Amino acid sequence: MSTAPPVVLLRGVGRRFGDYDAITDLDLRIDAGEQVAVLGASGAGKSTLLALLNGSLRATSGVVEVFGANLGSIPPSRLAATQRRIGTVSQRLDLVEQVRVLHNVNAGRLGVWSTARSLGALAWPRPDRVATSALERVGLSWAVHQQTSRLSGGERQRVAIARVLVQDPEMVLADEPVSSLDPANAADILDLLSTLGRDATTIVSLHQPELAKRHFDRVLGLRKGRLLFDLPVAEMPDRALDELYALG
Ligand SMILES: Nc1ncnc2c1ncn2[C@@H]1O[C@H](COP(=O)(O)OP(=O)(O)O)[C@@H](O)[C@H]1O
Ligand SMILES: [Mg+2]
Repeated sequence: MSTAPPVVLLRGVGRRFGDYDAITDLDLRIDAGEQVAVLGASGAGKSTLLALLNGSLRATSGVVEVFGANLGSIPPSRLAATQRRIGTVSQRLDLVEQVRVLHNVNAGRLGVWSTARSLGALAWPRPDRVATSALERVGLSWAVHQQTSRLSGGERQRVAIARVLVQDPEMVLADEPVSSLDPANAADILDLLSTLGRDATTIVSLHQPELAKRHFDRVLGLRKGRLLFDLPVAEMPDRALDELYALG
């Protein structure tokens, strides 16, 4: 057993929207360095779970602890400090289309840059070493001054990842980062995501079990907001998947 504090600790966590339970009674511990895939059909609660982990949504019951901080009770300043340690690639990517790739990448640093520096970076877009190396790692050095809207789906996904990279996060969350990509691009993106975090704690939601098996150590199966299984990938039986994606 590891004695280091867990990166994520959920106890009896629930999230309700109106009278609908999107997440119900979830217990979960994730330690530093784990590579976790979250599988589940549409509506299973994957996005809700990731949003609870980065503090953009609050639990309506139970306790969400990230890096030892209870996200439901810490003051806003400490919540912001905790959130800076988490890099999130959202399902919609949230890129600004009409600006250069460099601006989208530097947006990952706005939380730590002063206002003056942020404005300066907008007025005089010169890539510094951090931005240059992030774009290099995602294979987009050539695109630094391109307008973001001109890039392909796979390239845009890489910009969103570079934006997380400049943040130097200790945990990376990615919500269905490969659902719209071809198999070769999907494999590249998942390889990239698993090497991003400083201690590479990575939690990625997916639809494809075969990708979970190939790129992750541990698989969580969500069904209707409940944890159906939590297994090392090697132990995931095919039957578990049938249940996960069963209709009704
Ligand atoms: N802001 C919201 N308001 C109301 N219902 C929501 C909201 N967000 C999610 N839900 C509902 O919660 C359930 C889980 O959603 P979600 O976490 O997005 O699932 P997934 O990402 O696995 O497709 C869905 O039934 C969805 O309609
Ligand atoms: Mg979702």
